[in-house]
Amino acid sequence: MIDQLYRKAVLTVAGQKTIENAVRARGWGMAQRFVAGETPQTAIQAVHDLKKDGIMANLDLLGEFIESPAQCTQFADNVITMLDAAHADGITPYVSIKLSSVGQGKTEGGEDLGLTNARRIIRRAREYGGFVCLDMEDHPRVDQTLAQFRTLVGEFGGQHVGTVLQSYLYRTEKDRASLDDLKPNLRIVKGAYLEPETVAYPQKADVDAAYRRLVYAHMGAGNYVNVATHDESIIHDVQMYALAHGISKDAFEFQMLYGIRRDLQRNLAAAGYRVRAYIPYGRDWYPYFSRRIAETPRNAMFVLRGMLKG
Ligand code: FDA
Repeated sequence: MIDQLYRKAVLTVAGQKTIENAVRARGWGMAQRFVAGETPQTAIQAVHDLKKDGIMANLDLLGEFIESPAQCTQFADNVITMLDAAHADGITPYVSIKLSSVGQGKTEGGEDLGLTNARRIIRRAREYGGFVCLDMEDHPRVDQTLAQFRTLVGEFGGQHVGTVLQSYLYRTEKDRASLDDLKPNLRIVKGAYLEPETVAYPQKADVDAAYRRLVYAHMGAGNYVNVATHDESIIHDVQMYALAHGISKDAFEFQMLYGIRRDLQRNLAAAGYRVRAYIPYGRDWYPYFSRRIAETPRNAMFVLRGMLKG
C-alpha cells in the first residue's frame, strides 16, 4: 500500500510541467546513471562496457506516446538505424520497443501502424540474427499487444520476437497460459504503470507471489524466461527452483535495468548466470527517468542529493 502511494505521489508530481521543466534543465547528469546517453553510439559504448563484465545488453530507444503517424514511422526508422549501427559494430542486436511508439492504435493502409512498423524492425533484426522484445505498457494496451505478438511470432518465429507480462495484473496468469502453444520467450516483470485496483493487485505481497508463480509456470512448461527484477529474494528463489527442477542456466536469464544493482548484475554473471541489462538511450528520457524514481525512495534520494549539489 505504501509502495503504491509513493509511486502514485511521484508519478503525479513528475507529471507536472513545471517539475518536468526543472528536472529536464538540471537532471540530465543524474539521469545518466539510468540512461546511456542520447545517441546510438553512446548506447553501443555501454554495450561494450557491460560485455567486459559478461553482461549482455538490451537496447531501448526512449520515446513514449509519440503523436503523429509520421513521428511513429520516424521512430521505427531510428530503431532500425540503431540495429544497423549495432550490427556494423559487431554486436548481435537485441532491442526492446514499445508498440505505442511505433504507431499501435493508429491505422494506416488498412493495418495497425504499430504492427507494420514492428514488422519492419523485426525483419531487420532477424537479418542480423537479433531479437526484438515488445515491452508491455499500461493495461488498455495488453490485448492488442498480445494479439500482435501472436501475429509476429507466426511470421518471424519465436527466436526473433518476445514480449512481456506484468505480474501486478490479475489477468496475467491466464494470459501466460494462453500463449503456451507458441513456446514464447517472455520477460516477466512486476509492472511499472499506475494501475487501478480493478485490474491490478494493490498489495505488493500479491504482486510478488504472482511473479513467482508466473516464472515457475513458464519455466516448468519448458519455455525460455527472462526474469526481469532486482528483487534478490525472488532471484534467489528462481535459482533454487531451477536447481531443484534440473533447469540449466542457459534456459533462462536475469534482466535488470541499466545502472541499477550493478553489483548484483556482476555477481550473477560471475556465477555463470545469463544476465542482460536493459539499456535505455535517447533524448526523450524524462518519462523513463520518472518511473525509475517512482520505484524506490532510494532513487529519489539519489536525485535530490545530486540536485542539491547543484
Ligand atoms: P521491486 O520494486 O519489488 O524491488 C525489489 C528490490 O529492488 C528493492 O530492494 C528495490 O529497492 C530494488 N529496486 C527496484 N527498482 C529499483 C530501482 N529503480 N532503483 C534501485 N533499486 C531498485 N515494466 C513494465 O510495466 N513493462 C515492461 O516492459 C518492463 N520492462 C522491464 C525490463 C526490465 C529488464 C526490468 C528490470 C524491468 C522492466 N519493467 C517493465 C519494470 C518493472 O515492471 C518494475 O517496475 C521494476 O523492475 C521494479 O520492480 P522489481 O521487480 O525490481 O521489484
